[in-house]
Amino acid sequence: MGRLSLLPSLALSLLFVLGSAEAQLRIGFYSKSCPQAESIITEEIDRAIRVAPSIGGPLLRIFFHDCFVRGCDASLLLNSTSASNPTEKDARPNQFLRGFALIDRIKARLERPAPPPSPAPISLLSLRETSCTRPHGRRDGSVSIDTEALRLLPAFSANISTLKSQFDDVGLDSKDLVLLSGGHTIGNAHCFTFTGRLYNFSGRGDNSDTDPSLERNYLAKLRAKCAQGTSDALKLVEMDPGSFTTFDNSYFKLVAKRRGLFQSDAALLDDADTRSHVIRLAESDNSVFFREFAEAMVNMGNIAVLTGSQGRSGRTVPASTREREKRGLIVLSASCRE
Ligand code: HEM
Repeated sequence: MGRLSLLPSLALSLLFVLGSAEAQLRIGFYSKSCPQAESIITEEIDRAIRVAPSIGGPLLRIFFHDCFVRGCDASLLLNSTSASNPTEKDARPNQFLRGFALIDRIKARLERPAPPPSPAPISLLSLRETSCTRPHGRRDGSVSIDTEALRLLPAFSANISTLKSQFDDVGLDSKDLVLLSGGHTIGNAHCFTFTGRLYNFSGRGDNSDTDPSLERNYLAKLRAKCAQGTSDALKLVEMDPGSFTTFDNSYFKLVAKRRGLFQSDAALLDDADTRSHVIRLAESDNSVFFREFAEAMVNMGNIAVLTGSQGRSGRTVPASTREREKRGLIVLSASCRE
């Protein structure tokens, strides 16, 4: 099967949100309270992708980083107003997230008319090109703590047992881990996230001290892009070279050939179960990856869902906003105004 360009395939692959069978989330949740929400979000996402086709990667990553900490409750969108009260956004793993400006722009438009959806759906909706079938009704959280993000988000140097256990902690299994790592088929990474594999890997310090799990030719290419030391630390490198704006199963083909960029990608070969999924996905049609990725994204979207009386609904925004501002937090998330 041929590869899909990012624009339509993002919508396809992000069926995670569209296809959720989560009983407590409901399609049409905002049809009365904010009927124009979907069309506004669709329009803004379409416009953003036309201007910056690579925006899909950053948005996908925002979704992952939000979901792993207290579920996809948009707590990642909260800004701290005091140094003594850092939020998730301030945590080191979130330092280089991009795409907040787009979410803010959508929020600004939604705030003009009608009543508020909670911010979580906005961050989620912003990850797809919106359709009418995603169940809504998710409540946003009101707690955002930097140390939780640091503890719960997997590190690029994580080994397979740490990865499995961090995914298990949020109710995701080894298959989810492999499928969701497939998100690395799009986007860029800074050199500093993988130069530890290229130079002085074991601390020996000579020129051959490199990560043995990294394929030699790829290693040489990465070395040519990222010099040792700090000069190139913030240089961006395509995670799926030549295909980094295309959502396809090439990530698994690379990992299977020991060309995964991060230690966490390479680690997927270190366990019989995760390795078998990598090989299977590398050898399957894209359609298999799209279907299973969508299922895994639904699983991630359902981590610790707040519904009903948990969390807060859009209509309680003003009170919650005051509460949060008292605690030094500013609400950045999107809402429709009554
Ligand atoms: C399994 C554990 C994971 C680790 C250790 C990890 C780590 C990373 C790192 C270090 C970067 C580069 C960040 C930068 O340099 O700015 C990155 C980028 C990215 N990650 Fe992951 N990630 C993981 C899982 C996921 C998941 C589950 C998704 C989504 C389903 C995802 C989607 C992305 C995307 C799309 C980018 C590119 C972002 C951009 O272009 O700005 N990652 N990841």
